[in-house]
Amino acid sequence: MATRLEQAAMPTPTPMRILHSRAALQAELQALPRPPVLVPTMGHLHAGHLALVARARALGGPVVASVFVNRPQFGAGEDFDRYPRDLERDAELLRQAGCDLLFAPGEADMYPVAQTFQVRPDPQLASQLEGAARPGHFDAVATVVLKLLQLTRPSAAVFGKKDYQQWLVVRAMVEQFALGVRIEGVDTVREDDGLAMSSRNSYLSPAQRAQAPQLQRALRALAARLPGCAEARGLQALEADAQQQLRAQGWDPDYISVRRRADLQPAGDEDLAAAGRLVVLGAARLGSTRLLDNLEI
Ligand code: PAF
Repeated sequence: MATRLEQAAMPTPTPMRILHSRAALQAELQALPRPPVLVPTMGHLHAGHLALVARARALGGPVVASVFVNRPQFGAGEDFDRYPRDLERDAELLRQAGCDLLFAPGEADMYPVAQTFQVRPDPQLASQLEGAARPGHFDAVATVVLKLLQLTRPSAAVFGKKDYQQWLVVRAMVEQFALGVRIEGVDTVREDDGLAMSSRNSYLSPAQRAQAPQLQRALRALAARLPGCAEARGLQALEADAQQQLRAQGWDPDYISVRRRADLQPAGDEDLAAAGRLVVLGAARLGSTRLLDNLEI
C-alpha cells in the first residue's frame, strides 16, 4: 500500500528538469509558456511540501520548486550543518508530484558575492516570537525569498502556514515592495496523531516522536480556554499555564502566544470577541529539537 508521502506525491510523472545554476534556470524559464508558480523549500521534503506543489499546480503552474538550505537564516549553534539533505529523494518526490523545474543552486549561485544588501522586515512583525528567539532570521529569510522571486519571476509563490510568521513577513514584503506576486498560504499538513509535518521531525528519537504531538495539544487546550476569557489581559495567565504544562512534560518552550492573525500583535478585547481573528503560536524545544506549530481560531 502507498504511504501517505507516496500518495501525496501521486499525480502524473512529468519530465522535470533539475537546474543547478542561475544561467540554466533562466534558459528554462524563457521556454515556459507563462510565468511559473514558485514553491521555495529547503528540501528534505514531506507531504506538507507536496501540498504546496499541489496548490501551485492548482494555481495553473508551471511549477518551479527550489531546494536551497539557506545558511544565513540559521543562527550560530543552530542546525545548518545537520539539516537533512537528500536531493535525489527530493527530486523524485517533486517529479512525481508534477513539478516542472527544480532549482537546486549551490551557495555560490545564490550568493556569488557577499550579501551586503539585506531586506529588513518591519520589526513590529519580525522581531517578536520567532524573530525574538532567532535574531536576524527573518532578514535572511526575506532576503533569500526576494532573490528567489527575482530569479524565477513567478506569478505566485506558495508557503506553508506552519511557518505562520514567515508567511506574513513574505506577504508584507511583497506588498510593500509592490513585487506583483500572489503569495499563497497552505494549511499545515499533520501526521495522524496531530504532529505538524516538519523536516526537523526526523531529529526526534522514537520516545520524543511519541511525545511531540503534545505541542499541538497544548495549543488546542489553550484555544479551548479562550471562550472563558472575556478580557485580553487574562490571556497572559493562560499562555503561562500552557507553557508550564509543556515544561512539566519535559519541553523547553520559547513562547506560546495568542496573537492577531493579521499582524501577529497581541490580541485585544475586540479580537477576543470577534470570530476568526486569532492564531495561537508556539515554539518549544524537545531535547535538542526545536519544533513550532500554530492553530488558527
Ligand atoms: O520555509 C522554508 O523552507 C525557508 O525558510 C524558505 C522559505 C525556503 C527560505 O529559505
